[in-house]
Amino acid sequence: MNADLLKFLRSLRAVREYTPETVSQEAIDEILDVGRWTSTGGNRQPHEVVVVRDKGVQSKFAAWGAKPAGPAAVALLIVTASETSAFDEGRVAERLALAARACGLGSCIATLKNEGPDAAKELLGIPSDRRARTLVAIGHTDVEARRALPKAAQARKPMSEFAHWDRY
Ligand SMILES: Cc1cc2nc3c(=O)[nH]c(=O)nc-3n(C[C@H](O)[C@H](O)[C@H](O)COP(=O)(O)O)c2cc1C
Repeated sequence: MNADLLKFLRSLRAVREYTPETVSQEAIDEILDVGRWTSTGGNRQPHEVVVVRDKGVQSKFAAWGAKPAGPAAVALLIVTASETSAFDEGRVAERLALAARACGLGSCIATLKNEGPDAAKELLGIPSDRRARTLVAIGHTDVEARRALPKAAQARKPMSEFAHWDRY
């Protein structure tokens, strides 16, 4: 058992507090390559990613419900072939977040709400028949700001309510 790797997987948190520092091209490339290698049903690979580093566009994402995109250094908008690719989309989002963490960065999965997906598609030239709802906001973690956050009383339900052994 690799205790460090298990801890790495278990301790991935949603980070919404970022410093103004930019994220290097090398880190973005590494994160994207992990996303590209994420397995998909039937290896159909229905997803693409739009890398957004334009603060004006990021503010629009935030206004459309994906708040963590606003202060992030970069937002990776996941574009999938159709609404039926949501499971694949979730997997790639998680992998992008894990890869960001492996690069020493904080990240938060966030979703565009209400008119957000359609507005984002129009703004970025994404064909209207694609799904573009989920993004991964990434940046350097503002450690001080996170330390100042109130601690959740119980971050997760107990294992006894999560796992059922042999039958429900
Ligand atoms: C599918 C999904 C969608 C999410 N959407 C948002 C979002 O739109 N805005 C946001 O601030 N956080 C969003 N989050 C982050 C969750 O709120 C966060 O992961 C959850 O509260 C647990 O916190 P933790 O990841 O720090 O343990 C999303 C997370 C997931 C997995």
